[in-house]
Amino acid sequence: MKRLEGKVAIVTGGAGGIGTAICRVFAREGARVAVADVSERRGPSVAEMIRSAGGEAQFMRLDAGDPASWRALIDAVVGQFGGLDILVNAAYSGKAGAVDTMPDDVWDEAFRVTTDGVFYGMKTAAAAMRARGAIVNIASVAAYRGSTHNIAYAAAKSAVISATKSAAMRFAELPHKIRVNAIAPGMIQTPALEKTFVALAREGRSIESTKAAMVRQIPLGEIGDPNDIAHAALFLASDDARYVTGTELIVDGGFLARW
Ligand SMILES: NC(=O)c1ccc[n+]([C@@H]2O[C@H](COP(=O)([O-])OP(=O)(O)OC[C@H]3O[C@@H](n4cnc5c(N)ncnc54)[C@H](O)[C@@H]3O)[C@@H](O)[C@H]2O)c1
Repeated sequence: MKRLEGKVAIVTGGAGGIGTAICRVFAREGARVAVADVSERRGPSVAEMIRSAGGEAQFMRLDAGDPASWRALIDAVVGQFGGLDILVNAAYSGKAGAVDTMPDDVWDEAFRVTTDGVFYGMKTAAAAMRARGAIVNIASVAAYRGSTHNIAYAAAKSAVISATKSAAMRFAELPHKIRVNAIAPGMIQTPALEKTFVALAREGRSIESTKAAMVRQIPLGEIGDPNDIAHAALFLASDDARYVTGTELIVDGGFLARW
């Protein structure tokens, strides 16, 4: 028995590194998947790749920071797939910058997509979800630490974890009992991570040595794979996690646990 048989899932940021892995794993486990992303260049090919592997998927354009875009997405998903059971919020915006250097509009955009997007998504999707639905918000280990050159990203992800808990409390009161949880990934090998290494590499220090210094901080000694996050999302989205709500699963090779 596939673990998401008969379920309909939306994955925002579905055209990105981690989002694509989640879409593929969910489709493999029997879900019909809406690959929701602002990228009309990468999104359709993710859906095509899933269909050619025998899964069911459709690209649907979404600007996660726009409530009207969310309403259109939910209408399209319910119209085409006949319902909605799972939402994974993986879309984000988070350019690097410190408190004294970050332009105001970069801060605003990080919150518009990363945090407002999660709020609009939970609110709009929950209204359309069937009973025993599940929401998984992708946060980050950055939410728990001071992040000198990533202030907006870290702050926006802290807000995602907090909003996850508050939404979980509210939905637990309502008849459908939709569960809401977060995943806090550590360093995961994606194009976005490579860009972060470029941004963090200091003068006279190569990207390779920056990466090596980061890896030394990970107890398991390696950068994670997008499938590590996809498998955690599969657990939280499936009925295996029926008694899990309002929490976060840290998937970071032990990074946060280290003294
Ligand atoms: N890669 C890592 O090391 C890492 C670590 C911790 C957390 N995360 C989180 O995992 C999630 C996925 O990250 P990734 O590494 O796959 O990044 P990515 O850049 O590969 O993917 C992000 C996707 O979001 C989409 N997107 C951007 N703005 C959007 C908008 N307004 N509306 C809809 N879609 C939009 C992009 O087009 C892209 O496809 C993010 O929430 C990120 O913060 C990643």
